[in-house]
Amino acid sequence: MLAEIGYARHIGGRAATDRLIAKAGINKGSKVLDVGCGLGKTACRLAADPGCTVTGVDIMPKMVEQAKATAKKAGVSDRVNFMEGDARKLPFGDNTFDAVIVESVTVFVEDVARAVAEYKRVLKPGGVLCDNEVCVTRKSAEELKDDLKDLEAIFTAFSSKTDRGIMTFEDWRDLYRGHFASIDADHYVADPRKETLEKKADGFGAVLSMAKAAYLYYTNPEARAIIDTTRNMYKYVGHFGYGLFVCRK
Ligand SMILES: C[S@@+](CC[C@H](N)C(=O)[O-])C[C@H]1O[C@@H](n2cnc3c(N)ncnc32)[C@H](O)[C@@H]1O
Repeated sequence: MLAEIGYARHIGGRAATDRLIAKAGINKGSKVLDVGCGLGKTACRLAADPGCTVTGVDIMPKMVEQAKATAKKAGVSDRVNFMEGDARKLPFGDNTFDAVIVESVTVFVEDVARAVAEYKRVLKPGGVLCDNEVCVTRKSAEELKDDLKDLEAIFTAFSSKTDRGIMTFEDWRDLYRGHFASIDADHYVADPRKETLEKKADGFGAVLSMAKAAYLYYTNPEARAIIDTTRNMYKYVGHFGYGLFVCRK
């Protein structure tokens, strides 16, 4: 679906990215890797301000192409480089980056532990992993236990396919605690209205993606089923959100 619609973003939008960058202390001198970079917005933003040297990788060639176009438009092609790459087998040597940023990606990866081991491997000693994962808290999962099948369907419709089923905020936190020397973790509840407004503010690309989604809805029964399922997310306002994890190697 993402590939056909040609649009990608992460829950929490720019505010969530700002929080991650501030908590991690990413600065002009930081050499940064953006894994699952999508349209390249965060990578280009870091290249523009504070002016980091950034590499972005994505498993989908179409995303890499669009990210390069984003860099050109933003005038930062000299500081940012995009290429195809898989979170499970990153095409970089050990201890290469000061920071690895991963926004709404690991939830789509089948072998979560392998991806996390890769993020850590490419970080320099003392380097920092910044991760945003869509999730509910364990308390919400317990409160919603009668709706777990419904929740699972929403995650699956978004094409989440971790080998660990639905991971709660605490599951992600415990996973990172097992791999990193120190971690800072917070859960935020998402506001669907704000998410939609921010998506619209993304401009022509976002509006075009919404038009494509509408077209698919009426012409492709499989796409319609997926879109209908993801809309169920709105039933769980107050629960659905994201975890921000800043993990030091
Ligand atoms: C929800 S989008 C988020 C994009 C971007 N990080 C952002 O915040 O706008 C998820 C992205 O992860 C990419 N992706 C999924 N599985 C991946 C993998 N195994 N390795 C690298 N990228 C992957 C998808 O192609 C997509 O661009």
